[in-house]
Amino acid sequence: MQDSLIPPFQGFGLGLRPPHYQDVLAREIAVDFFEVISENFMVKGGRPLVVLDAVRERYPIALHGVSMSIGSADGLRPDYLQRLKTLADRVQPLWVSDHLCWTGIEGFNSHDLLPLPYSAATMETVCANVHQAQDTLKRPILIENPSSYVAFADDEMTEWGFLTELCRRTGCYLLLDINNIYVSAVNHGFDPLAYIAGVPAERVRQVHLAGHSQGRGRLIDTHDRPTPDPVWALYRAASRRLGPVAAMIERDDDIPPLDDLLAELELARGHAADPEVRAA
Ligand SMILES: [Fe+2]
Repeated sequence: MQDSLIPPFQGFGLGLRPPHYQDVLAREIAVDFFEVISENFMVKGGRPLVVLDAVRERYPIALHGVSMSIGSADGLRPDYLQRLKTLADRVQPLWVSDHLCWTGIEGFNSHDLLPLPYSAATMETVCANVHQAQDTLKRPILIENPSSYVAFADDEMTEWGFLTELCRRTGCYLLLDINNIYVSAVNHGFDPLAYIAGVPAERVRQVHLAGHSQGRGRLIDTHDRPTPDPVWALYRAASRRLGPVAAMIERDDDIPPLDDLLAELELARGHAADPEVRAA
């Protein structure tokens, strides 16, 4: 496996979403990379791949998956991994990422990022699956922290402890979703700064920035609004600990005009460049 395929700092990016295809193809966009949802392009042909090829000619691409189901006790689906490898071979991405979760069972895809217990038993399962993915893709992958609304009585370690051990045992890297950390911290009552302090900084290659909404008695990871102040504050803390790390605005719903997201990305650049953050 070639660790050199995971470069340390790739600047500031945006998720490539269909409402922005025309804009992105028509003009120069002030981003260092675009991230795409892998599953939308794991197809044999059609307009999505035409758009992706055109964007790839001008920008680096990160592949971000939502249904690898790395926590699945059934193991990973070989056909899924092969289709993802075909896409990765075509795109030559900065990296390939997916979430620490499971999404289905026995062929059923829930289209939800379902949490798993953080135990020694699930560690064995996830390590085997990460090895399977990395062996097929011939590259290390990034694992993203999910947001969660329930915890398990079987939990034996913190989420950040689980991710740390996962990196150590598999050589994978991390994608930290700062909003997800905040949402889970509020929902479960842990200190988000302890999470930031607890992850292996040298393994983090990307962060996601996003907004959330207030549900009944808990925060919901809706990714449908701008990054709020508490998440910016946590991003500043993460930047102090991690140093320069690729950052991206991740909007999945209620997609605003591209220029609104570019303005939000400029805020991220400003926080990361703030002397008070850089001096740490
Ligand atoms: Fe995310």
